[in-house]
Amino acid sequence: MKFFADTANLDEIKSAASLGILDGVTTNPSLVAKEGGVDFKEHILKICEILNNPKASVSAEAVSTEYESMIKEGRELAKIHPCVYVKLPMTRAGLQATHTLASEGIRVNQTLIFNAGQALMSAKAGARFVSPFVGRLDDIGQDGMVLIQEIREIFDNYDFECEILVASIRGPLHAINAARLGADIATMPVKVMDQMLKHPLTDNGLASFLKDWENRGK
Ligand code: E4P
Repeated sequence: MKFFADTANLDEIKSAASLGILDGVTTNPSLVAKEGGVDFKEHILKICEILNNPKASVSAEAVSTEYESMIKEGRELAKIHPCVYVKLPMTRAGLQATHTLASEGIRVNQTLIFNAGQALMSAKAGARFVSPFVGRLDDIGQDGMVLIQEIREIFDNYDFECEILVASIRGPLHAINAARLGADIATMPVKVMDQMLKHPLTDNGLASFLKDWENRGK
């Protein structure tokens, strides 16, 4: 499973990249807004340069809502860097724009997916990633992981060139369960990666090994 950092913060991205297991970054308008008045395109370019890996993926989201303006914006975003995936919402216009951009070779991450039918239509339109939001489904009392299971089952029946990018991850269990279900990618806050790599028994075990080493008979 690929690991993406779900942030537009450059320090967080550098920190996650330093772990050596980072395959990409997802941003959205809210995450970019948190970085203050940055120039969006320049900021996306900086993220691509930090990753410094031609296989990495950096999602940049369009803010247009009409088909014509979406494809125009998508084409501009795709020009920023070869790693850029254009993120488009799962609306009628977003689906149409996905089909158009995909036919031009532009890779689309279809975002705001909340049911399996949306994921299926998006894959048929040519999206390279679908982004189901598990945390936001959990928030309204629906099990987000059931959706991942459904999409996995559907995609395994066909040959779509579309990966399941589990989004809206709130903690390590979301990422672990996504991997158990065979999701292709998990995008998570860098805090979740830090939580995932830690275990108190690892820390206690190391402390006692080091103490014993210090007290060894010399
Ligand atoms: C990433 O692609 C999504 O925009 C993000 O995971 C949404 O996360 P949230 O539900 O925590 O805002």
